[in-house]
Amino acid sequence: MMLAGTGKVAINLCRRHEPNFCLSCNHASMLAVVNCATVFGIDAIPIQVEVDIANGLPGFATVGLPENTVKEARVRVQAAISNSDYLFPNGKITVNLAPAHLRKDGTGFDFPIALGILAAQGLIPIERLAKTFVLGELSLSGQVRPVRGVLAAAQIAFEQGCKCMLVAKENGAEAALVEGLEVRTVETFRDAAQYLVTEDERRAPVAKPQTLEPNLEFELDLADVRGQYQARRALEIAAAGGHNLIMIGGPGSGKTMMARCLPSILPPLHHTQALEVTRIHSAAGLTLSSGGLIQQRPFRAPHHSMTRAGLIGGGNGVPRPGELSLATHGVLFLDELPEFSRNVLEVLRQPLESGEVVLSRANATLRYPAKIMLVAAMNPCPCGNYGSPRKKCRCSMIDITRYKSRLSGPLLDRIDLHIEVPPVDLVALQTSSPGESSEVVMQRVCQARDAQKARLGESKLNGNMSKSQLVQTATPTLAGQRLLGMAVERLGLSARAYDRVLRVARTIADLAGSTVVDSPHVGEAIQYRGDERMLLAA
Ligand SMILES: Nc1ncnc2c1ncn2[C@@H]1O[C@H](COP(=O)(O)OP(=O)(O)O)[C@@H](O)[C@H]1O
Ligand SMILES: [Mg+2]
Ligand SMILES: [Zn+2]
Repeated sequence: MMLAGTGKVAINLCRRHEPNFCLSCNHASMLAVVNCATVFGIDAIPIQVEVDIANGLPGFATVGLPENTVKEARVRVQAAISNSDYLFPNGKITVNLAPAHLRKDGTGFDFPIALGILAAQGLIPIERLAKTFVLGELSLSGQVRPVRGVLAAAQIAFEQGCKCMLVAKENGAEAALVEGLEVRTVETFRDAAQYLVTEDERRAPVAKPQTLEPNLEFELDLADVRGQYQARRALEIAAAGGHNLIMIGGPGSGKTMMARCLPSILPPLHHTQALEVTRIHSAAGLTLSSGGLIQQRPFRAPHHSMTRAGLIGGGNGVPRPGELSLATHGVLFLDELPEFSRNVLEVLRQPLESGEVVLSRANATLRYPAKIMLVAAMNPCPCGNYGSPRKKCRCSMIDITRYKSRLSGPLLDRIDLHIEVPPVDLVALQTSSPGESSEVVMQRVCQARDAQKARLGESKLNGNMSKSQLVQTATPTLAGQRLLGMAVERLGLSARAYDRVLRVARTIADLAGSTVVDSPHVGEAIQYRGDERMLLAA
């Protein structure tokens, strides 16, 4: 073996004896240690892969609570090593994943284990490997494949002071987002092993950080929406104050279209927000084919057949973030809200309040961010024609009541803006002139958000400020209070609805550049509660 007889690295050899042929202590080689990480929630936890090869019956044992995917690593590692023109050692291989008490899941251990096996035989320098952070899946032919959660892992690698991180080519642009970490990408296992021996840069080029191109499929411009002035205004208020919104209207009235416009009037993400969005998408395995910084506001529109786990996160082994988390810093659009199953709708409540999803597992509690704007759409009745001047509704009153009762009061309570979207005459609309573009609206939204930042700090908006902040900042002028008092009497606003009107009024005042909440602001805010009776009293 390469290291035999070279006095320099003797400390790495089996502590007391010659490598390879140590008969007294039964060790064929030295212990190799490789740094890597496993995904946990949207975080990564540092893991050390220890590889030991002893004389004895050939075998391969993985210890340290490996899940099935990790146990299978054995098969891939063996084939990948053999197919990369290295001899697979003929001894008793033990791989320990430390800390041993944590469950390990995922395929990212293949690559570090395989490098550890070469290092344990003295085929690559142990010290260099120990300073390198390694993450990747191996194919049987020895290709290095991307894994999920690479951004979080790269952050851990940097914190641990690793000099260099080795990942698959597809993971490079994402891992390189961590400033100060040298990320190198390899296509094959052989390249990685050769790079560690020769430091030949061509085998493992340095990766450059990248920003992902926006996906414009979902994003429309508000100028494309004709008419619908009240709904457009509601979108602007929702965007400005981070309010949740529900649109009620028949099919074809433009609800889906308008929801898709919302990301285009939200201010661009800050860098820290973009990093958080990227981490979440990475942990969910959505950045495997092309990684990089996600700078576009997410827009998630899960189908109503979505399960509870799909919404809040979960799954076998280490859970993955759900739609609520994937929509963080963006929009979660639930079309046909009453069609979602009741228990799915019920789990929405707590994350809407706290901005995070808490999942309890047998041995751990996971927290995922869920800082979303909820936009929901629904028909006024099961057939969709209720209230339409042109089409006849065929539903009985009982059908309509049953339809609406699927939405619980507590859920609707967390939605500040309720609007009706009337059917439009498309022919007439096509000839009308286009409205303001998203860019113009976004300017106003940004100004209103600046005013909120000055008042509430970085992390709060009117839509999620606390009750005491609400009292402090949104108590209306005397005229405003009088108007509100009348509304309480006439509309029978509940105490919660009252608070929501105030929140919305505060945002309307911010959009108008007003420091106080006055009666016009309150008056407009009350309109967005107009259909509460229609929804709940039905
Ligand atoms: N206000 C509008 N301005 C322009 N086009 C509209 C408008 N409302 C509806 N449309 C057109 O009708 C189509 C259907 O609208 P959609 O948003 O799917 O309605 P809904 O979700 O309410 O059923 C849209 O793709 C769009 O082309
Ligand atoms: Mg629709
Ligand atoms: Zn109907």
